[in-house]
Amino acid sequence: RIVAAAEVEQSYIMIKPDGVQRGLCSKDLAQEHYKDLKDKPFFPTLINYITSGPVVCMAWEGVGVVASARKLIGATNPLQAEPGTIRGDLAVQTGRNVVHGSDSPDNGKREIALWFKEGELCEWESVQTPWLI
Ligand code: TYD
Repeated sequence: RIVAAAEVEQSYIMIKPDGVQRGLCSKDLAQEHYKDLKDKPFFPTLINYITSGPVVCMAWEGVGVVASARKLIGATNPLQAEPGTIRGDLAVQTGRNVVHGSDSPDNGKREIALWFKEGELCEWESVQTPWLI
């Protein structure tokens, strides 16, 4: 049970069918994000895929987070990804591999700067005392 404190609100957010159908992630943004791969034969397919619907963006921060997130995500080709990883358990093909994670700290900075505006990120610290109640 969630006990709401005075100023704590809840909001239900749903991307409605037209939002999913219209593919609101721009091609320019997708091309910039994957610019290191622009000469690969699969680049156009990759851009079509990544702009085919909404994506959920997150910025993670922590010691060694690039490597630990990649471990959790698993290998690019889901058939080579270990069971227990997101791609290993949930994906089937390389071109539909469910989740992205930056492959280096430099790319992490670059991609977060590309996908988020100044002020959109929050800093969150674990606390000993209960948070919402
Ligand atoms: P890459 O950066 O090599 O992999 P990762 O996402 O694990 O960092 O490639 C980016 C995406 O491009 C990958 O997630 C899926 C797609 N891709 C293909 O469609 N075909 C391919 O042969 C490769 C290598 C990647």
